[in-house]
Amino acid sequence: MPLHITAVQAMEILDSRSRPTLSVSVGLADGNTARAGVPSGASTGSGEALELRDHDASRYGGAGVRTAVGHVNGEIAAALCGRDFAGLSALDQALIDLDGTPDKSRLGANAIVGVSMAAARAAAGQAGVPLWQGLATDGATARLPVPHFNVLNGGAHAPNPLDFQEFMIAPLGAPGIAEAVRAGSEVYAALRRRLAEAGHTTGLGDEGGFAPDLAEPEEALRVIVQAITDAGYEPGTGGVAIALDPAASEFRQPDGTYRVNGQVLTTSDMITRYRQIVDEFPVWSIEDGLGEDDDTGWAELTGALGERVQLVGDDNFVTNPAIITRAVQDGIANAALIKLNQIGTVTETLHALEVCRKAGYGAMVSHRSGETDDTFIADLAVASGCGRIKSGAPARGERVAKYNRLMEIGHRHPDLPYGLGR
Ligand code: PGA
Ligand code: ZN
Repeated sequence: MPLHITAVQAMEILDSRSRPTLSVSVGLADGNTARAGVPSGASTGSGEALELRDHDASRYGGAGVRTAVGHVNGEIAAALCGRDFAGLSALDQALIDLDGTPDKSRLGANAIVGVSMAAARAAAGQAGVPLWQGLATDGATARLPVPHFNVLNGGAHAPNPLDFQEFMIAPLGAPGIAEAVRAGSEVYAALRRRLAEAGHTTGLGDEGGFAPDLAEPEEALRVIVQAITDAGYEPGTGGVAIALDPAASEFRQPDGTYRVNGQVLTTSDMITRYRQIVDEFPVWSIEDGLGEDDDTGWAELTGALGERVQLVGDDNFVTNPAIITRAVQDGIANAALIKLNQIGTVTETLHALEVCRKAGYGAMVSHRSGETDDTFIADLAVASGCGRIKSGAPARGERVAKYNRLMEIGHRHPDLPYGLGR
């Protein structure tokens, strides 16, 4: 259905870390108007599309986004308003052409992705369908994804000494999305009790997981397994499994070694460590287990563990369809993380998901550590049928909004299947 754009507007709002981001609204000639909130990462890959900040130290410590807002209200609005587009992909291509840089650095990927998300939502409104149906692509079968709840935070998302960034629980064995969310919440509550009993603080990190003063990843894994059992679930793929995002680029040293709790580890030490972790704990997925530029390490890691667990590329793949295509050819990892603002348009994000699906790679749709109340990623995950999503803990409004949206979709469409799908 053609899109006739009548209005494009942005303003500066706050994200969940109290940093400025954009709220963008797009209006169509049929009267549909939709809004989008732009997410923002902390442990970003170097190849991500550029997030444009003002660098004016007198406002928000330099983190303001008035320049990006100005680009939406000025150049982008002027280029889009009054024009007809054959569909979202034509509109996204116009945004890419208008920017003219490979990393969207002229207008800002935060400006562009906000317009793209709002336009996708307005287009679904015009078509009279929910967003997930509006995002449907040929060959993809909609399904409700397994939520990966980040219940214990470290790395760049918490002030504790834990080097691994994310410890997630994934109710792979749940019969449906509502039961999966319930499992996430019950394990989260059990984990809070376990940590409190052991004398740890139960303060939260940026993604809503607990941030106790634990230093060894294995200590964190041990207490999470106890919490799964306490809550009455079976640890493992038949019940509630564990997924890790060490975000290893953050603790990789300039000399190529990795520093975990003060120990200096080589790439092969890291791989051995992961093998031991997979042997000992019900870990089903490891994201960014090695640094983004440790290409030979990634190949070794994939050879060593790729048959046993999901290996997800995030900082190294940056939701870039061309990079994921090359990784498939080179046998690097077996799944990709999917983040809208890493690549900067909805169309390119859908393309990245399509590359994964056609290659038999897993794909996990993801929030950022800085979020708004926007729930776009819930619909995106359902539409793609990728079977996996991560949106932080089952706590804090900006995280829970996505899980609640998944439950709402499941409630309205009880025919949609739940689970990994493959
Ligand atoms: P970020 O972290 O949003 O801070 O980049 C998320 C991740 O590494 O997956
Ligand atoms: Zn990551």
